[in-house]
Amino acid sequence: MFTVGIITASDKGAIGKREDISGRTIKKLMESEGYRVERAIILPDDEEAILNEIIYMADELGLDLILTTGGTGFSERDLTPEATIRACDRMANGIAEAIRYYSLSITPRAMLSRAVSGIRGKTLIVNLPGSPKAVKESLEYAMDSLYHGLEILTGQAGDCAR
Ligand code: MTE
Repeated sequence: MFTVGIITASDKGAIGKREDISGRTIKKLMESEGYRVERAIILPDDEEAILNEIIYMADELGLDLILTTGGTGFSERDLTPEATIRACDRMANGIAEAIRYYSLSITPRAMLSRAVSGIRGKTLIVNLPGSPKAVKESLEYAMDSLYHGLEILTGQAGDCAR
């Protein structure tokens, strides 16, 4: 069973002014796929806070997967990708690119997502957009491939069958 951490980046959410529906949506979806959600936290859109939390979840808790929601857009405070890039040893851009590409078939606004994905040690980190709708669409699309990626990253599967 793979373990998951969820980070919701939201200034309003962090001070209790917005319900964390996206974080809850991720939790529900991942649990229904058999993942164990070990930690879910709401943080303000603060690059250092997000970076420190990613490092904590990866290095201290040793989680297999970290999913972030929010902070991938264009507003000045949207800094989740910057924190994620700093945390990663190796980028795994294909995941974010694939989600963006798929999402473009739903809305052209998907081009405004600056989401990234990458690896820190044995932890995979994937940025998801902020809205519950976008989270659900993105995650359902990526779910199968994320699982296979985690199998390879954690040494439970060799390379893909050719
Ligand atoms: N992706 C999907 N699948 N569905 C959506 O509705 N909305 C987009 C995009 N990605 C959307 C999506 C919008 S409107 C924005 S501005 C960007 O994600 C960035 O979102 P964020 O700032 O909430 O992280």
